[in-house]
Amino acid sequence: MSHIAIISASIRPDRKSHRVALYFDKYLVNNQIASTEIIDLRAYRFPLFDEKLKIQKNPDAQTLEFAKKIDSAHGVIIVTPEYNGGYPASLKNAMDVLYEEWRHKPTGIVTVSDGLFAGNQALISLQFTLWKMKAWTITEMFSVPKVAENYDEKGVPKDQVATDKLAKVFIKELLWCIQADTTDFEKINA
Ligand SMILES: Cc1cc2nc3c(=O)[nH]c(=O)nc-3n(C[C@H](O)[C@H](O)[C@H](O)COP(=O)(O)O)c2cc1C
Repeated sequence: MSHIAIISASIRPDRKSHRVALYFDKYLVNNQIASTEIIDLRAYRFPLFDEKLKIQKNPDAQTLEFAKKIDSAHGVIIVTPEYNGGYPASLKNAMDVLYEEWRHKPTGIVTVSDGLFAGNQALISLQFTLWKMKAWTITEMFSVPKVAENYDEKGVPKDQVATDKLAKVFIKELLWCIQADTTDFEKINA
């Protein structure tokens, strides 16, 4: 069974996008699709990194643990709010501290906002950053408008059937990429 890490990017005390991370966690586990782990950036309380992990002289245990979790996951879902048309500094900080760990990582992007536009403006910049780090961003998106209205605190969506239908399409694409990632290209090129 695949293992999918779900990054919850908002570190705000009153954050709402975490609800969507909880939703995906439950969706994947309850449907026996994958084992999961929510990587909660608020819980990590990372400092503002001044260097990449690879060349840090005394990396702390938490950063090493974070790197290992991204590296070992078969796929990653990033749940990000939109802040002023981009993704939050907490996420940029956590992504830039790594590099090799992102290479070829099947990655799905979930954008969240409290307005009507579902964080779509954050999508492009996040996708570009992931592309620069050679992550493999999936071509399906999952966009959440009016998050507080559409998901409760436990991550239960207002319209479970419609949300599950959208999640199915998104996750199917992520699983396709995860499976493709197991192809032994060395053999193909031999
Ligand atoms: C600094 C900041 C900037 C924001 N900018 C936007 C924005 O550009 N577009 C938008 O739709 N919502 C914006 N929001 C509202 C978020 O969409 C809202 O807080 C939502 O609940 C998701 O973020 P959260 O998980 O931190 O709660 C902003 C919120 C903050 C705190």
